Amino acid sequence: MKDAAPQVIRLADYAPPAWLVDEVSLIFRLDPAATRVQSRISFRANPAAPGHHDLWLDGENLKLLSARINGEARSVTPGPEGLRIPATELPEGQFLWEAEVEIAPEGNTALEGLYMSRGMYCTQCEAEGFRKITFYPDRPDVMATFRVRIESELPVLLSNGNPTAQGAGWAEWHDPWPKPAYLFALVAGDLVAQSNRFTTVSGTEVALNIWVRPGDENKCAYAMDALIRSMRWDEEVYGREYDLDVFNIVAVDDFNMGAMENKGLNIFNSRYVLASPETATDQDYENIERIIAHEYFHNWTGNRITCRDWFQLCLKEGLTVYRDQQFTGDMRSHAVKRIEDVLTLRARQFREDNGPLAHNVRPETYVEINNFYTATVYEKGAELIGMLRRLVGDDAYRAALRLYFERHDGQACTIEDWIRVFEDTTHRDLSQFKRWYSQAGTPRVMVEDSWADGTYVLRLHQSVPATPGQPLKEPLVIPVAVGLLGQDGRELQPTVVLELSEPVQEFRFEGLPQRPVPSILRGFSAPVILQRDQTSAERAVLLAHDTDPFNRWEAGRSLARDVLLAMIARDEAPSTAFLEGLGSLLRDPALDPAFIALALRLPSEDDLAQALHEAGEVPDPARIHDMRRKLTHLRAEHLAEDLHRIHDAMASTGAYDPAADQAGRRALRNAALAGLTHLDQGARASRQFATADNMTEQLGALSALLEIGAGADELAAFYDQWRGDRLVLDKWFGLQVMFAAPDAAAETAAGLAAHPDFDWKNPNRFRAVIGGLSANAAGFHHASGAGYRFVADWLIRLDPLNPQTAARMSTAFETWQRYDPGRQALIRAELERMRSAPTLSRDLGEMVGRMLG
Ligand code: PHE
Ligand code: ZN
Repeated sequence: MKDAAPQVIRLADYAPPAWLVDEVSLIFRLDPAATRVQSRISFRANPAAPGHHDLWLDGENLKLLSARINGEARSVTPGPEGLRIPATELPEGQFLWEAEVEIAPEGNTALEGLYMSRGMYCTQCEAEGFRKITFYPDRPDVMATFRVRIESELPVLLSNGNPTAQGAGWAEWHDPWPKPAYLFALVAGDLVAQSNRFTTVSGTEVALNIWVRPGDENKCAYAMDALIRSMRWDEEVYGREYDLDVFNIVAVDDFNMGAMENKGLNIFNSRYVLASPETATDQDYENIERIIAHEYFHNWTGNRITCRDWFQLCLKEGLTVYRDQQFTGDMRSHAVKRIEDVLTLRARQFREDNGPLAHNVRPETYVEINNFYTATVYEKGAELIGMLRRLVGDDAYRAALRLYFERHDGQACTIEDWIRVFEDTTHRDLSQFKRWYSQAGTPRVMVEDSWADGTYVLRLHQSVPATPGQPLKEPLVIPVAVGLLGQDGRELQPTVVLELSEPVQEFRFEGLPQRPVPSILRGFSAPVILQRDQTSAERAVLLAHDTDPFNRWEAGRSLARDVLLAMIARDEAPSTAFLEGLGSLLRDPALDPAFIALALRLPSEDDLAQALHEAGEVPDPARIHDMRRKLTHLRAEHLAEDLHRIHDAMASTGAYDPAADQAGRRALRNAALAGLTHLDQGARASRQFATADNMTEQLGALSALLEIGAGADELAAFYDQWRGDRLVLDKWFGLQVMFAAPDAAAETAAGLAAHPDFDWKNPNRFRAVIGGLSANAAGFHHASGAGYRFVADWLIRLDPLNPQTAARMSTAFETWQRYDPGRQALIRAELERMRSAPTLSRDLGEMVGRMLG
């Protein structure tokens, strides 16, 4: 397998399918070792591909038992990737294909296709898993209605669409909406449901069920509540109504990703469904709400309107992420949500976009499509939607979306279709904007300003650095939201959106009473890196007065970053002004506690490495770690009184509620505790741990203790308390690795990998330990190379069993070119070792190849 040159798939080679499918009917006779799948597929020649063509059916690891065309038996010999019937052996116009195959779900460790997770059958077909279930044209532009019959002794048998009939040992389903095979799903298991009903805006009753293992049914209430709120929101905000009689969600323990939007039957990683105050943190609750909404929103943006081919993945993912971000903002706080989203965008997407794995939001080539479910496709994809909306305005955005749903319902579409609805709505030429989809790399916007005679001039320069395969870049259209403040903090100019479309452009503001303090890129109006020398006085004005909450936070953030960079470079002590600025935030009663908690969060070690690299320096992970700790300590000393007060004042009153208000208070309380723990050797944290009645406070206390190298007793108590709860135990594994001291991190991870509860074939557990180590920057990048070796060892081991997860986690190495020659040599050696593994998959092979360049 690894000797054959990997086949590169190109957008430019797209050709419409020769044969379309009208209807599919499937019968599953479930068995762990020998499941039989019978298929009846009616094919029809595609008028868009004139002529009489061969039939290509994708199929992998299928034992073909029989095949018939129009009832006549055919002897066909499939190759490793599928089978071809020459046109000469096919009827013209249309025909019926029938086949029976055998598959072995219990041996399926890749968790793609039909597999088993602790006794339960489930499927994962996006992107190309259906071909592991039966022979089929497994491409998203082939859409068909599905009838499914499942035969099994298990009590709960589910598939897409509406149930049509059932009896002892069988059930039948029909999905009336044409869909691509990647949205197919089947579940069979001993499950129980938490159920509810939803009446759509036009009066249709929908039965809602969340299916879990017996014992977990009391942990579904929040997911159900989030689902109902999502359904209502999509009706109210996007005019989108649900379109089946039932909506099923199933929680499974073994799942490579977060969740999957299969039509009418969403399948979730159980960590994004199950929650109780005792076992889930506020962050978990927020993630559940977000992902339930995301998958539900896919019903229109993804399912009713799908992608023509996998290069168009951002068409459904960017838009659906954008929609779930709006939803969370509406449910919680737009200001806080925007800050959180930008933090992730910078931590994950900017990191990706500024390294060897940089790629377009719409890639043009791939070897393995699973490798392109990335922060760039998802998060930058969502930013492009936000920019488009800023450029055309809210009303035009709404009108364009209405046109999109009207024009393209039932179709498999492209980014060109998407852009065209905006052009047709606004009569604006968006060809320059479209470059955002075909140009990788994070744009830099450099700001110069001048002031004379009441006129303030902003001179903006844009540039995009070279990325792999794209040495030269063209100018983009960048919406730069700007406001102007007076030196006293009064707003002189409310937000205007400047459109930067030239390499250099000037924008003038006239008739101003005094030289203003500019607030640039308000709301983070474009996914760019802003380059500007800003005085600390200006930042102080913005931090204290900006009417734009994002830029208010950003002023504090950049201040903290510069303080840290100065400590790292020159041992420079943090200025009192900086510490005082934080102090006044802590004492401002008008501020949302969630906002203050975000303002207290220091840039991560990886953020700092990224900033140093950006400034042309070579980051030293050990030094970054030490200085960040030192600042945490100094800051706590300086603000001790405020932190004490806050920790007491933010204590819970009344019953636990996962909603934003309480969650914000707990976030601030834990942030205060983390600081105080640096001063009191953990006394307060131990008390909080002992008295906590919810996971947010219990885990906050444990993390604070582990961060200072304490907490051994609490860790043991936590294990005893939670050893029976898989999701909580993942936290126990992860925290120890993430907070391990740099010298001990690899060893701690190795110790945990030898723990009897370490189940490395479960992706959540694997991520907790191996991903935990890559999240511990100073531990992972330890000069000994032990961190690199540990992660590479495990990726090599996981890869033949579960290539998708191994490949995803290899991004731990994507920043390697930032570091010193010693570390680079160590990482290169590990990447080469992975590349030469005899079992190297196409997935990991492509990732390692791109990283090595
Ligand atoms: N389509 C899923 C989502 O974004 C993600 C996913 C991709 C899940 C591939 C599984 C496999 O919601
Ligand atoms: Zn999605």
